[in-house]
Amino acid sequence: MATNESYLRVNGGKALKGEVEISGSKNSILALIPAMCLGDGEGVLTNAPVISDVDAMKGILGEIGIQLICNHSTVKIKGNIKYNVLSKQYVSQIRASNLFLGVLLAKFGKAVVPLSGGDKIGNRPIDIHLYVFEKFGIQSEVVDGYVKCKATHFPYQGQNIFLRFPSVGATENAMLVASAAEGETVIYNAAMEPEIVDMAILLNSMGVKITGAGTPVIRIKPSDKRLIRADHEVIPDRLEAGTFLFMLAATKGTGIIKNIIPEHLVSAITILSDSGVSIKTMENSLHIDARNCELKPIQIEALPFPGFPTDLQPFASVYALNCNGTSTIKDTIHSERFNHLHELSKMGMVNWSISSNTMIQGMQKLTGTSLNGTDIRMAVSLVMAALIAEGESRVYGLNHILRGYDNFVQKLNKLGAEVVIMDKEPYDIIVQMQCM
Ligand code: EPU
Repeated sequence: MATNESYLRVNGGKALKGEVEISGSKNSILALIPAMCLGDGEGVLTNAPVISDVDAMKGILGEIGIQLICNHSTVKIKGNIKYNVLSKQYVSQIRASNLFLGVLLAKFGKAVVPLSGGDKIGNRPIDIHLYVFEKFGIQSEVVDGYVKCKATHFPYQGQNIFLRFPSVGATENAMLVASAAEGETVIYNAAMEPEIVDMAILLNSMGVKITGAGTPVIRIKPSDKRLIRADHEVIPDRLEAGTFLFMLAATKGTGIIKNIIPEHLVSAITILSDSGVSIKTMENSLHIDARNCELKPIQIEALPFPGFPTDLQPFASVYALNCNGTSTIKDTIHSERFNHLHELSKMGMVNWSISSNTMIQGMQKLTGTSLNGTDIRMAVSLVMAALIAEGESRVYGLNHILRGYDNFVQKLNKLGAEVVIMDKEPYDIIVQMQCM
């Protein structure tokens, strides 16, 4: 397990080259596990990523009486929910824990769940989630850091719900709650992220009838029978794939990214292709060649899917440093997600300014140094900067990387990157903890 002293020692200045196999999606599995909790029997998720966020989910499930058994890329779920109250221990580690409000409400009509944790990337309110619950006649209050919800009538009736913003988590919670309603629910202005579609496919296999997932209007017809858990393959992680895509391009490397769904990556592929990187899209892989390219500056605005994902914005910012000209980066989804730029200034990045349109001047020389990542994407974007920089860097924040990147260092090493996991004793290599 990574400690606060653990860091990655990165030797930069080398183009990446080779193949990388993408694991199952972090954000999907964090929604699929709560969805599984609505059913009885045994369900198996395959293509599961081996990441510490799944360990946190295991802790949460343990508190409500459900077993989650991990074996490499397979996660088995069995047992029935016995309790409707969660403690802070595991909930505070991940944002997706707020989906247990939906799970417990669907099961018991009442729930007590601490405010969820997750990355510190700005204010992350849950007002849209609570608005959804209110539409079903569920009253909520936040007391001493706990969200307490209770339905005035249980089971509650299906509803027509318009979301003021297509929040991913609120759409997922709405689908969970609607799965136990009496009658149909329609969600308007729903999130269209691939993870929503993945969750809908699983819930349909368990007996719910959901149509329209992946569009702004989702219809949910509950089953009149008990939901039964099903086996399901987790979709590939589009954000992990996007990370390697930007890394290969920014280091002017060449390689193949395998086990992906190209449609999930259209925005990133388009931005990099327009910037001058050669990308060939195959059925489930991408072939990238950025050798000898002059990279044109990029204009990015992070938007809900199918727009450019906020979770790839830090990598786009680092990529912009290698472009010939000034790039502009806008992120109103997580407006405070620019901490990586402050760290990059330690490497010698001077020409940048944060505003509603963040400007980054390209062709800036970076020099290796000690860096501290305080959230998952930030920490990985600092590794990316260290790969471009001249000399050696230390990147702290390994615990954040292990939250969502399966075998990150091994995958980078396979691409020829000189990256080593270090414990506080300089040459002790620590091994990424496998999900037990
Ligand atoms: N928002 C509200 N009120 C709400 C809910 C959301 O104002 O009730 C705002 C948020 O503050 C934020 C925006 O809406 O500004 C987007 O939030 P959303 O609810 O869509 O995001 P989420 O469900 O909390 C998921 C991913 C994030 C990803 C966002 C946006 C998971 C576990 N997390 O979070 O992933 O950034 O969608 O795509 O699925 C990451 O993987 O690094 C990550 C942070």
